[in-house]
Amino acid sequence: MSIPVTPTKRSELYRELLVAREESWRILKVIGEKIVVGTSQRDALKIAVEVMKENKIQRHWHPPFIALGANTPFFDPTEMDQDLRLQESDIFLVDLGPVWPNQMEGDVGQTFVVGDIAKESAKFFRLKSAGEQMFADAREKWLREKLSGQALYGWMNSRAKEAGFELPLNDAKGHQISDFPHKLRYPGKLSEKDSSIESHFWVLEVQLHDPILKRSAFYEDLLWE
Ligand SMILES: [Fe+2]
Repeated sequence: MSIPVTPTKRSELYRELLVAREESWRILKVIGEKIVVGTSQRDALKIAVEVMKENKIQRHWHPPFIALGANTPFFDPTEMDQDLRLQESDIFLVDLGPVWPNQMEGDVGQTFVVGDIAKESAKFFRLKSAGEQMFADAREKWLREKLSGQALYGWMNSRAKEAGFELPLNDAKGHQISDFPHKLRYPGKLSEKDSSIESHFWVLEVQLHDPILKRSAFYEDLLWE
C-alpha cells in the first residue's frame, strides 16, 4: 500500500522533515557526549532513552540503538554483551529514530571515537572517517548521477571492498522517511529501489565493517539536495 502525496503536502513534508532532521542531530550529539569511558552497553541505552524523554520524544519509529566497541558489528541488541564497558581507546555508534511532536520521523546515526586519535585510537578514527567519507561520496554521486538506490548501494559495496572493508547489508539498507509511519508510503529498502531517489524522502545508511579490527562504523542521514 502506498499513500499518494500531493505537491503542496510534499513541500510541507520536506520542510517538516528538515526540522525533524535538525532536532534529531541535536539530541544525537547530546547522547554522544554523555557516553564516556566506563559506561556500559546497558547504561548507554538508558542514557539515550532518558535524553529522548527529556526532549519530549514519546514515540520512536525505531528504538534508539547504541553499540559499544565489540558490539558495533551487531544490529540485533540481543546479540550484544550488555555488560561491555567503553574502554579508554574505543569506538561506539548511536542511531536514533524519534517521531517528533510534528509527527515527522527523524533518523540519524553517527560513530564516536574516544581516546587519542593521533595514537591508540587512530585505527578507530580511520574507520569512522571512512564511513563518513563513504556517505559524503555516495551523496555526491547521487546528486550528480541521479542513480537508483540499487545502483548506489552497488557502487558503495565495490568501493568498500576496494578499501578492504565490508558493507554488510543485513539491516543498513536505507529506507524512506516521512510523517509517521513511512512504511505506509513505501515499505521497501533503498538498496532495493530500482528507480531514482527523490530528495528529502530517503535515508542513506552506511555500515562499514573492518574485518581485521572486528569493529563497524555507522553513519546515516537524510538525502537532500
Ligand atoms: Fe536509524
